[in-house]
Order: sequence, then structure tokens, then C-alpha cells
Amino acid sequence: MCGIIGYIGEKKAQPILIAGLKNLEYRGYDSAGIAAIDKGRLRIARAKGKIRQLEKKLSERPLPGTIGLGHNRWATHGLPSEENAHPHVDCKKNLVIIHNGIIENYLPLRERLKKEGHRFGSDTDTEVMVHLIEKYMNLGLETALRKALKMITGSYAIGLISRKDPGVLLAARQGSPLIVGLGKGENFIASDVPAILHLTKKVMYLCDGDIAILTPSNVRIKNMAGKTQSRKVREISWDPVSAKKSGYPHFMLKEIFEQPQAIEDTFTGRVSPEKGKVYLSEIGLSGKELKKIERVVITACGTSWHSALIGKFMMEEFARIPVEVDYAAEFRYRNPILNAKTLVIGISQSGETADTLGAMHEAKKQGARVISICNVVGSSITRETEGVIYTHAGPEIGVASTKAFSSQLVVLYLLSLYLSDIRKEIFLKKMRKYILDLKKIPFLIKEILKRHPEIESLANIFYKKTNALYLGRGEGYAVALEGALKLKEVSYIHSEGYPAAEMKHGPIALIDKNMPVVVLALKGRRYDKILGNISEVKARSGVVIALASAGDKKIKEKVDYIIYIPRTNEMLSAILAVIPMQLLAYYTAIKRGCNVDQPRNLAKSVTVE
Ligand code: G6P
Repeated sequence: MCGIIGYIGEKKAQPILIAGLKNLEYRGYDSAGIAAIDKGRLRIARAKGKIRQLEKKLSERPLPGTIGLGHNRWATHGLPSEENAHPHVDCKKNLVIIHNGIIENYLPLRERLKKEGHRFGSDTDTEVMVHLIEKYMNLGLETALRKALKMITGSYAIGLISRKDPGVLLAARQGSPLIVGLGKGENFIASDVPAILHLTKKVMYLCDGDIAILTPSNVRIKNMAGKTQSRKVREISWDPVSAKKSGYPHFMLKEIFEQPQAIEDTFTGRVSPEKGKVYLSEIGLSGKELKKIERVVITACGTSWHSALIGKFMMEEFARIPVEVDYAAEFRYRNPILNAKTLVIGISQSGETADTLGAMHEAKKQGARVISICNVVGSSITRETEGVIYTHAGPEIGVASTKAFSSQLVVLYLLSLYLSDIRKEIFLKKMRKYILDLKKIPFLIKEILKRHPEIESLANIFYKKTNALYLGRGEGYAVALEGALKLKEVSYIHSEGYPAAEMKHGPIALIDKNMPVVVLALKGRRYDKILGNISEVKARSGVVIALASAGDKKIKEKVDYIIYIPRTNEMLSAILAVIPMQLLAYYTAIKRGCNVDQPRNLAKSVTVE
């Protein structure tokens, strides 16, 4: 997730690009850069860190010109650095490009282009695009772009300008957001509305496969075959504050709705259903080294610890390797038994949580192999570990973690399949099926999200309560823990997650008509047992809200309310089941008038022990 902006018109480009980037800073802040063309000269300024670092550079040497591009980076390929900051240029410094997305086949393309004599200045996947376009420039800018796009696989929203053709700005979209803003004598491209809302309220949302050709006075949209397309012009009525949240009232809700994209971005480029393969070279350990691993310990804090719990189920199921899960603070101070045959995995959204960082340090000291799953490229935890598998959820602003959690589950699922392949625990046919199941998840989440009004109305039961119980078995238990954590974090209602079978050893004493009980009751190996637990709650007048599999009629007469979710394989069910839990917590908190994005006493990144 990065932010892009482009301008073509009569005004100075630099202030427009910088203002736009500031409004897109929520999409990335590892580095920033702008490019502008003036009187046949292309100039670029880039800086590591936040936009103010770039502004410092520009204050010494501003960029003249009335056509330009700007980019905020959220690193995926290549560390945050000035060299990896966008925009990127071709060998002759005629062409300049900005990109949001992931080019899956960049490595073979890069090798080929290098052999043909192209010189690369960064480690990014993006740079191959500008060299590919350069290669075909004898066909003209637009055709060269089209030809290059046909050769790449992956996702992109790009902006492209040429020193030799400063009257035109090109843009293209496939799988990453991109809009065109329409002005008078000027036009814009941007990842999102807030970048340009202070300049125009008229926008066109580009579709996948669109190529936009902008001049100061005109915008044309074509498809990949060069045929003109018509796209509706929409009038945006948002105020600038709600625009940063893409029109959502809170970051938490926005991030809940971003999950289909975050999940897709996390598995893109890492799976091949045809070959039945998962690719995780970034793991930092060879197949031979991984084969020697006899035991896995996953350690984390908060929501990331819940994803670790689900990871244990996945890894034991697929890779048949024993897995322990531990709170980072407990792990680091209990003299754990570790050796070179233990793989320790730290999970952290921020990569800065002090206890998880300490746990990684301890594991390394004791001779274990150590890797991390993290959302922030280059963060402290990633520097402490031998390999990092990044989630590509983009910046998470809401303090209560949502899209980072589901993206962590995707990485754990991929890692479990990867290990099972290495350990020869899985047949090709099954591997293909599991990969295809994963590819369907973004679509299935969209289906659940569409039904948000149902969950909003359930919040009417919750918001006046003082306690709530969440029950589940297996992966459902971990989801129950996460559902209860979400509710307490944002609504301040006391809530507990419990293994459903353990209820009768204590929590059952709390159940009466005032106690809502959320039960994870999806079809699977534990379904009948869960129905038994539901009866136990009902016999004590508890109010049961069940999360059930689509088409389950049997459960209807047993419970008070049902949230149906689509079916998937058992190991992926947690990714779907957590979505209604997040929405329930959100809507309940809103009804109680709570500050969901910054709940009292909590912090996004906990850098103290
Ligand atoms: C804080 C946040 C939680 C998060 C936890 C672990 O408590 O409020 O949302 O789950 O830290 O953070 P990490 O960045 O390590 O995943």
C-alpha cells in the first residue's frame, strides 16, 4: 500500500504534489519522492522517512515544472531507503514512473532486462516497469506502456511521464486503487480522494485494465486493446477529514472493509494454484535447514498472539510439526528450552512491540532459528530475525488491530503449506485445493461485509450490557478470544473468550438472561460438541448469538440470533469468522459513544515492557 499522485496543468506541480502526499500519508510513510518536468529537464527529489524530510530537501532546491508525479512508499520489495523511494527512472532518465502494487514476475523480467543492458538503481519491483517501457519506446509512449503492462503480472496503479513528451501524463490500473480528478485547465491522478479533494470534487474511478491519458484540458480512458472507455464522473461530497478515511466515519471501519484487498495483497505473488506451490523465499532458511526443524514456538502479544494460536492449528494440521504458542513477555523471562532445531516465529503488526522484540533477542541468544511475520518493513523486530515474511496489509491506523490480524492468518496459512510441502506431508492435489480456497477468501469476505447492517442491529443487544462471553472450540476458540478482545478494547464492555468445553468449569456460573454469549459454531469436526455447549447455555437462560456456516438450518431453533458466514476449509474459517466479530465490536462501541480509533489507555505500538 503506497500513495500516488500526479498533476498536469498550468500551476506549479510541486506544492500540489506535496499537499496531496500529505493527505495520503496514511497509505505509507517509509519514504517519499516527487518528479517534475520543466523546459525539457526532468528533476527528481526523494527522501527516506516522512514527507517533512522530502520538504527539507525541496526547500533547498525546489522542483520547477507544471507536470509531475509524487509517491509515498509503504515498502514491500526493498528496504525503506532513498534508492528504493519512488519515482523511478529509465536508463536515459527520459521516463519517470510511480507505482502502488506488487509486480509478481519482476525477478525474471529484471534479469532479462539486465542482460539486455538496462541498469537498475533500486531493489524495487517497480523499476522493471520503467525499463520495460523504455525498451519499447520506439513504438511511442502509449503503446510502449501498453506493451509493458501486458508483460507484467501482479497489481498496479501507476503514473508515468516522459521528458520528451511533457504535454501528457499516463496512468494505469490493475488491482490497486486509482482515480482521475478533473479540473479546469488541469487534471490529476491519485490513489485516493483526499489527495485532490481541496482541488476538485469531480473524480472518475478507474477500473482494472484502464489506461488514462491526461493532458491539461482533456482525459481519455482506454482499455488494454486501445479502445476508448467511458467512466462516470462522480461529484464527491465528503469533507477533507472524512476523505482521509475514504468516507468511512472511522479508521477501524475502513480497515475492516479493506480486508479483502489486504488479504489479496498478502498472498499475491506467493502462490501458484496450477503448480500447487507456495513461494516464501524471504523466510531466510533453506529447505534443507527447515527440514531439520523439530519444533516451532510462536510468540507475540495482543491480537498477534491470537493469530499465533490459529497458526498452531494450521501448522500442526498441514506440516505435522509440534507447535507451542507463548506470550512474548512470558517466553522471554521463563528460560525456554531452545536449540538449533527449534524455529521461533515472532508475529507483530508494528514490529516494535518491546516484549516481542525481547523474545526474538532471547531466542537468538539461545541458538534457535528465528523468523518474524510483520507488517512494517524494516521495523526493529525484522532486523532482529533471520527472515521476515511480510503481511501486506498497509498502514493500520486504528488502535484495535483488524486487517493486520487477518493478513497474519494468511501468512501463517501460507507458511504452514510451505512447511508441509518441504516436509512432504501434503499431496499436490490437496495443495492446489488449499491454495484455491485461499484465493476465494477476499470474495467471501466481501460477501460478509455486505451484510454489515445485520451485525449493526445485533449491536443493539450488546451495547447496554456490562459483560459478554465468547465461546469456541479449536480455531473457533482463538476467534472467540479475538472477538472478546475486540469488544473490550473498543467498547469497554467486560468480555471473556473461553474454550467452549471449559465453560462448565467456571464461567457457566455467570450465565443468566443478561449475559450475551457469542458461540463460534461453524460446521466441522467439533460442530456437534458445540451444539451441546449451546444447549448448556440455553438451559441457564443465556442469550446465544451463533456464528454458523451458511445453510445450517439445524442450529436455528437452538439459538436466539444467527450470523451466517460462507463455507471454506476449516483452517481458513477463522479469517471469515473474525470479520463479524470485528464489526460487532465496532458497532457496539459506536452505540456507546466510544472513541473506537483511539480507545482509552491503549496504544498502537507498545514499546515498553
Ligand atoms: C497493542 C495494540 C494491539 C496489538 C498489540 C501487539 O496492544 O493495541 O492491537 O495487537 O499491541 O502489537 P504488534 O504490533 O506487536 O502486533
